[in-house]
Amino acid sequence: MSISTEALAKTIAELTAPGKGILAADESSGTIEKRLKAVNVASTEEARRDYRELLFSMPGLSAFISGVILFEETLKQKTAAGVALPQLLTAQGIVPGIKVDRGTVLLPGFPGEKVTQGLDGLAQRLGEYKQMGARFAKWRAVINIGAGIPTPQAIASNAHALARYAAICQEQGVVPIVEPEILMDGDHTLATSARVTEEVLHAVFHALHRQRVALECMLLKPNMVVPGAACLEQATPEQVAQATLACLRRTVPVAVPGIYFLSGGQDEVVATANLNAMNIHPEKQPWVLSFSYGRALQAPALKAWRGEGANKTIAQQALYKRANLNSVAREGKYTAAMENE
Ligand code: 13P
Repeated sequence: MSISTEALAKTIAELTAPGKGILAADESSGTIEKRLKAVNVASTEEARRDYRELLFSMPGLSAFISGVILFEETLKQKTAAGVALPQLLTAQGIVPGIKVDRGTVLLPGFPGEKVTQGLDGLAQRLGEYKQMGARFAKWRAVINIGAGIPTPQAIASNAHALARYAAICQEQGVVPIVEPEILMDGDHTLATSARVTEEVLHAVFHALHRQRVALECMLLKPNMVVPGAACLEQATPEQVAQATLACLRRTVPVAVPGIYFLSGGQDEVVATANLNAMNIHPEKQPWVLSFSYGRALQAPALKAWRGEGANKTIAQQALYKRANLNSVAREGKYTAAMENE
């Protein structure tokens, strides 16, 4: 594969700027409908645009956010005043990114397991997304923990698709964010989450190697190692940091510039505390450890907004608070007392 690393390296440098993380605002049509419905807003194209415009026009966003992941529809939308939404981001020095996977389907023969689709025609789509301003991309693989799962075959299928996607992105000059997400659903323990995460990351990096992906020109977006949401024994931020870092150190080569965690349904304050715990861990880590949160950045803003234009300022203040505190946590300088300041 011949890739021009210059453009990729520039995008990586911008995305990994100190004190910053990534805002995941790439909810698919089904997911955004669910989120909006939860605050009694009908998911019209205009409502989705208004909500995203509110997030992207938060004053001071670029102090904490280096990149925003968009859904295809958003990439093509304009603000009420007629500015393309990606342009609203680039004007602030924020890099627009694009979710390029086409969601998951059941893996035939493997009950309860899924594989992500969207490789066919991806190179051509990336060309179009680049024209609209996207410089990085995201592909999410989903792994379930349950009785007898994940199977090695489901892990291998998802790792293969992630690696093929990453190679296609790099060939097109687009930085791939590689996202293997082990879901929090279930009552599995911290130890089980650690075992599965380690197995999955080993498979993903093996596949990336075989697919000749330049590790220097990608970002990893993993889950944190946490117990299942229904597990009776939950973990402290220190335990999460210990388990997550041990797992990453065994599986993620030093060449990878940054690890940008997903929040995965964690409470937003917990997600911040966990990120902070990673960054104050006594052992020095070779990668940037930051955030690429969706819900943990957006949930309070969405609740404050409720589809009312009059709530714009308080909604933006809610986003400001989470973006600011996660930026502080990325530097290991967060304390619980800051939640009340
Ligand atoms: P959450 O932080 O809400 O898990 O979303 C991140 C994401 O991009 C999931 O694909």
